[in-house]
This record gives sequence, C-alpha cells and structure tokens, in this order.
Amino acid sequence: MAHKMMQGKVVVVTGAGGGIGRDMALALAAAGARVVVNDIGTSTSGEGTDAGPAQQVAADIRAAGGQAVANTDSVAGAASAARIVQCAMDHFGRIDGVVNNAGILRDRIFHKMGLDEWDAVIQVHLYGSYHMSRAAAGHFKEQGSGAFVHMTSTSGLIGNLGQANYSAAKLGLTALSKSIALDMQKFNVRSNCIAPFAWSRMIGAIPTDTPEQQARVARIQQMTPGKIAPLAVYLLSDAAREVNAQVFAVRNNEIFVMSQPRPLRSVHRSEGWSPEHIAEHAMPALKASFVPMDRSADVFSWDPI
Ligand SMILES: NC(=O)c1ccc[n+]([C@@H]2O[C@H](COP(=O)([O-])OP(=O)(O)OC[C@H]3O[C@@H](n4cnc5c(N)ncnc54)[C@H](O)[C@@H]3O)[C@@H](O)[C@H]2O)c1
Repeated sequence: MAHKMMQGKVVVVTGAGGGIGRDMALALAAAGARVVVNDIGTSTSGEGTDAGPAQQVAADIRAAGGQAVANTDSVAGAASAARIVQCAMDHFGRIDGVVNNAGILRDRIFHKMGLDEWDAVIQVHLYGSYHMSRAAAGHFKEQGSGAFVHMTSTSGLIGNLGQANYSAAKLGLTALSKSIALDMQKFNVRSNCIAPFAWSRMIGAIPTDTPEQQARVARIQQMTPGKIAPLAVYLLSDAAREVNAQVFAVRNNEIFVMSQPRPLRSVHRSEGWSPEHIAEHAMPALKASFVPMDRSADVFSWDPI
C-alpha cells in the first residue's frame, strides 16, 4: 500500500461535527491520521450543545476504516481546551496537528452590537484558538515538531458588513498564527491560516434580501466544504515542511496565497509634519495608494470555477 501522507500522525480538528471541519477530519483520517473529532454541537450562534455531531463523524471515520475519537469539550475555555489536547494524548499517545476550526457567528451592525455578541464570538474564535494552540504548544516543543492550521476569513482579511466581532477575531487569529510561527520555528513548529469559502450552515446566515445577495448565495452553494480539506491535510503533513506563516484562501477549485500588510508608500519631510502639512502634502501623495472600502464580496466578485 502506498505511504499515506498523514500516516502515524495525530490531529485534533475543532468544530469537526459538521461543515468544513467534518470534511477535514474525514480527509485527515483517509490520509492515515488518527483524529480527535471535537465539537460541542452548538447552533450557528453558539446556543445549546449536542454530543451527536462529534460522535457521528468519529463513527463515520471508523466505519470507513479510519481511527477517530469524539470529544465534546469547548475550545472557549483554557481548562476545557486543555482536555481536548489531552484527549489526543490519552487515546493516541501523541499530538502532531491542531486545526482551529470551531466557530460561531453573532452578526449585528456595529452601533447595535452588544458586548455579549462581541464577547461570545471573540471567545470561540480568538480565545479558542489561543487556548488550543497554547495547550498543544508544550507537546510540540518537546517533540520538536507540530503544525497548526487556523481557519480565518476574508471577512477579517478584507472586510464584511455586520461582522465587527467576527472580523476582529479572524484578523486577530492571523496575527496569532504569525506569532506562533515566529516563536516556534526553532522547534520545527509551523502555523498557517486558511480563509475558506464553503457552503455550510454558517453561510446560510448570509442575508438574501436582494436579488444580488440571492445570486451571491447561489454561487457560494457550489463551493462544497470538501474543497477545503486537501489544503488542510497538506499543510499538516511533512510535505509542507517549508510552508510557514502563510495565509491561504480556498474557493471552489482555486487556491490563493493572500497578501499580508506591508508599507505601500511613504512620504517624508525632513522638518517634520504639522497637521496642515499632512493635509496639504502627505495625504494627497498617499491617497493614490489608499485601500478601497471593499468587502470580501467586492474582491472575490467572479463566479467560482
Ligand atoms: N463556510 C465558510 O464559507 C467560511 C468562510 C470563512 C471562514 N469560515 C470558518 O470556517 C470554520 C468552519 O465553519 P463552517 O462553515 O464549517 O461552520 P459550521 O457552523 O458548520 O461549523 C462550526 C462548528 O464549530 C462548532 N463549535 C462552535 N463553538 C464551539 C466550541 N466552543 N467548541 C467546539 N466546537 C464549537 C459548532 O458546533 C460547529 O459544528 C469556522 O471557523 C468559520 O469561521 C467558514
């Protein structure tokens, strides 16, 4: 039998009871990994819990001849996230990869966004990814290897309406990933992000009030969650040993490497700047390089291919 890409590795996938996480867990198991299928089985907005989805996906993996264990601890607390990582140690004796995929949405136009909505989304996406990464980092350092994949979003990388909480968490997550990559490079630990586009129940929350919005949703429906899994498997494998601190996007059959902020243009004045000089000289010069008020859908505006 041909050597499988993830043979011998143990990977935790959070939020793997459905959507993109489920397909990543299935693909990782098919590639030979032993998988901790984590999911609290909550609604898109994070209300309620159900052990069913995680158990079902673990059962699906085992039925297909793979190895998996279900876990229903939340990523959003330090102690419970540590239990998810410990679950990998207890069942499989090691941990080689973490996919930070668990997520919820509480969309609200900014001036109406409540602290509870802000906090719930930041807790799951940003704190959850921190807790999971922090819990695995010690094991990764000790064994001199490990890989993180964090699911970010073009809502954070580019922008979107009514998602200040989610965008802040997802862009924060890319900085977390870069920081982990920098800090842990010397221990042979890698950290990369994927901004997925996939039709899932989460995207079902996109408004369909106008014909334009309806057409957009119809296009997104072609992008099945399984399209994200191959890149995640690759990034967790040793084949990706040279790939670190990058942000990718996947949209149907297209894979992108995304830019990360760098200076675009500068103006210099040896006497220094007054507010008036900035108005008269600096801004007119810099304006040509201003980034437009794009939302994700303005940048990714063509039909998925
Ligand atoms: N679908 C897309 O187009 C898209 C776009 C950009 C980013 N993403 C990101 O991809 C990831 C997966 O999203 P999806 O579209 O598959 O959505 P999904 O709702 O199907 O999956 C998210 C899963 O996370 C689980 N979850 C929520 N809170 C949790 C917690 N505290 N602990 C453990 N599990 C928890 C949910 O039960 C759910 O099964 C998310 O991080 C999302 O932000 C998705």
